[in-house]
Amino acid sequence: MSLQILNSDACIGAEATGVDLSVPMDAATFDALETAFNKRSVLCIRDQALTADQYLAFARRLGRVDRVFLQHYALPDQPDIMLVSNIKEGGRDIGHADAGRVWHTDMSYTAHPPRATLLHALETPVANGRSLGATAFASAEAAFSGLDEATKALIQGQTAVHRVSGRRKRTGTGVGDNALRDKQPDVVHPVARTHPITGRTAIYVSEGECVSISGMNDVAAEALVTRLAAEIRKPDYRYVHDWREGDVLIWDNAAVQHKATFDYTWPDHRRLMWRITVGGTG
Ligand code: SIN
Repeated sequence: MSLQILNSDACIGAEATGVDLSVPMDAATFDALETAFNKRSVLCIRDQALTADQYLAFARRLGRVDRVFLQHYALPDQPDIMLVSNIKEGGRDIGHADAGRVWHTDMSYTAHPPRATLLHALETPVANGRSLGATAFASAEAAFSGLDEATKALIQGQTAVHRVSGRRKRTGTGVGDNALRDKQPDVVHPVARTHPITGRTAIYVSEGECVSISGMNDVAAEALVTRLAAEIRKPDYRYVHDWREGDVLIWDNAAVQHKATFDYTWPDHRRLMWRITVGGTG
């Protein structure tokens, strides 16, 4: 087995095959994966069958594993892995059934947002031979590069306040777990954020969570956030991931935003992902 990496046709996204994450990986192979990840922002490693411990051991090579605050969706006996799933058992969701309903970057509402998120696909819905539940990604770095110079100058040095409960108010999503969300304090991040590893600059705002911008009144701030969010979502900056069981998909939260596709329904379709977030971008 030898590692092969194939870039997607989009400006982000790559696929790795010929690697087994269940066994210890030599430094050269890990470096090749990490380099591809840093360059392409979204990396899919195909055909994996991992225990929780094997998955965590690989994730820890990318950075410190963050513990999610929605602990009731954690894998039993493994608080560092969160279930993302539409499966219900005993009338209740076994995991986070609503993750990714709107364009966002993970946990921007924390002081130290995760460098990367990993999803390992254990069950993926299929209909008529077609995979459902794709995840779309958009390059916030390409969006920054594509801005006109006046807008770049306008946002350089600006900061935005991120609030997790803002999403519920702005988009009507994230309606579960309100008491936990409301406890998260506001945090401030640059609007044009420099990636601490690659040094590239990205637009770092999301419509749901950015509730104000430094030095702007609420109307002007909302208009700017809406405009910047629309730039990120432009079709030219997108990669859409069609899932296969066994995929381990890693995305760079400082470089891309993402949105899930809810084209599957319970109980006709089952979707089960194991999610880990790793820190390291500030
Ligand atoms: C997420 O936004 O964390 C989940 C995305 C997905 O389930 O496709």
